This record gives sequence, C-alpha cells and structure tokens, in this order.
Amino acid sequence: MPETLTVCPLSELPPGAKRLVEWDDLEIGVFNCNGAIYAIEDRCSHDDGPLVEGVLHEESCAIECPRHGSLFDLKTGKPTTLPAYVPVDTFPVVIDDNMIKLEVD
Ligand code: FES
Repeated sequence: MPETLTVCPLSELPPGAKRLVEWDDLEIGVFNCNGAIYAIEDRCSHDDGPLVEGVLHEESCAIECPRHGSLFDLKTGKPTTLPAYVPVDTFPVVIDDNMIKLEVD
C-alpha cells in the first residue's frame, strides 16, 4: 500500500508555484504548471542538482536544473536536454478535498 503524504491546500500552490517537501530521506519537488500539479524527485540524475530551485518553464511544463541546465519533463521525469539522460522518479498526485497529496512508497 502506498503511503499518502499531504503537501498543502491547493490554494497555497497557485499556477507557477513550486515547493519542496520531504518524506523519509527523499526530497520531492511539487509544481503547479498551468493548474496541473506534478511531483518529481528533487535530485537531478546528472549531478544531484536541486531541481525545485530551477526555472519552471510553464509553456512546456519542464523544470530546468539550476546546476547545468538540463530540462526535465514534469509529467514523466525524463530529461529532454543533456547533460542529464536518466529520468528522475515521479509521484502520483491526488487532490482530495482541495488538499494536494502525494502517493509515496
Ligand atoms: S546536476 Fe542537473 S544538469 Fe547537472
């Protein structure tokens, strides 16, 4: 059974906003891109860059690693530009009673 992690009320993460949550020893970036909520592991697969500190590209729903600039698709966790080439983990998002929740395991 996956565990459910409550992030915050939907109203606290408007479009364009992002935040970091911690669960166990994992750090997870949570993003609102044009009203859709996405959650990915906050550690670039290239050299551990803190993805949530990067620029959110809202037109493509991608986050730009602040360390060397790889773009990661928030929906899939896959990098779309080098130097990263390995995907990062993504987490299912559930909106329950206007609260953002993540399924983690
Ligand atoms: S650490 Fe992210 S691109 Fe290098």
